[in-house]
Amino acid sequence: MNEKVVLKLIRAEERRQAGVINLIASENYVSRAVRAASGSIFTNKYSEGYPGKRYYAGNEIVDEVERLAQERALKLFGLNPKKWGVNVQALSGVPANVFVYSALVKNGDLMAAQALDQGGHLSHGSPVSLTSRFWKWVHYGVSKETETLDYDGITALLEKEFPKLIVAGFSSYPRRLDFKRFRTIADACGAYLMADIAHVAGLVAARAYPSPFPYADVVTMTTHKTLRGPRGALIFFKKELEEKINKAVFPGGQGGPHNHQTAAIAVALAEAKSPAFKKYARQTVANARVLAQELQKKRWRIVSGGTDNHLMLVDVSREGLSGKDAEKLLESAGIIVNRNAIPFDARPPYNPSGIRIGTPAVTTRGMKGGDMKRIAEWLDGVLRRALEPAVVKAEIRRFIKKFPLP
Ligand SMILES: Cc1ncc(COP(=O)(O)O)c(C=O)c1O
Repeated sequence: MNEKVVLKLIRAEERRQAGVINLIASENYVSRAVRAASGSIFTNKYSEGYPGKRYYAGNEIVDEVERLAQERALKLFGLNPKKWGVNVQALSGVPANVFVYSALVKNGDLMAAQALDQGGHLSHGSPVSLTSRFWKWVHYGVSKETETLDYDGITALLEKEFPKLIVAGFSSYPRRLDFKRFRTIADACGAYLMADIAHVAGLVAARAYPSPFPYADVVTMTTHKTLRGPRGALIFFKKELEEKINKAVFPGGQGGPHNHQTAAIAVALAEAKSPAFKKYARQTVANARVLAQELQKKRWRIVSGGTDNHLMLVDVSREGLSGKDAEKLLESAGIIVNRNAIPFDARPPYNPSGIRIGTPAVTTRGMKGGDMKRIAEWLDGVLRRALEPAVVKAEIRRFIKKFPLP
């Protein structure tokens, strides 16, 4: 590449990514093959429409790529193509969710989702998201005692409110979801059940986390988190919803699909079908468990007492820190996390009481349980100011050389 300014920035970002311990729960490192497809010549092509029904000529190869991505997506999640379809064009997770809402729920009608400050996502009806401009929302949450979803409370709330669609899904909830229970609640309300498995898609694909497919009407997911693909999204739907949802994506919400991303998604889906990926997903969960246990041994309070997926929330407020302080302190030591609200947080969202820690990225680099113990030592030492951030940063730079980026 000849454009020197951007090339310099790319190299700098490469060095940054290589030199830190990345514990952002929603990030990962894609393979070279995914990067090659994402940077491919497919970026040149306009192809509004769907395979076989395009509004532009010259799409015979794009059609093949899109059909391949669809086939691989259905196969990966073990779905019967007579019963399920998938749209691979939504550009990212938020638009994917908005398209589903607009396909299935009238403006002004009520939907339900997990509260943002108890693990949900902005696109699940947060007041700052356009999803709250067009639809009304009722939010459910966790029990104060266990910090896990209170299904009896959710049942009582939603059977009173009668939402038209229920979202089951999260950005910062460390436990399994009971999709069967959500189905029962949806049936009692006569509501659609939409699972948003953006975070755990790769774990579900590898059977390392419960699958929503036996219970949901629609499943949305991003492709760039645990699924380890390029930035993008997939919308799976029961066949009878196909026309509504496809129309909501194009022409309802988007124009031309990003074919280079579709190609890269197709690559990632093939990779996710491999035995190596299965092993990766299991290791991601095992690593999260070890890290949570090690932090607990060092007297850190882990929200809900642990994790059974790829992420955990640490309540740093009990140690006199805010989430923002903790995030900054760790960044100065070469450890990247994000601040996050904890359930019933007394602090504001911009500077909450917790940090979210995830293991998908470090597991891709090949780290295992012993490495999690080492990371727990650094986290604890830096946050308690027993270790000098600059010293830890230098140690991490040496340590991380054993774990090259793909
Ligand atoms: C549950 C959930 N849904 C949707 C999204 C949105 O994805 P994107 O950032 O690709 O729009 C996220 C991203 O963090 C998420 O966690």
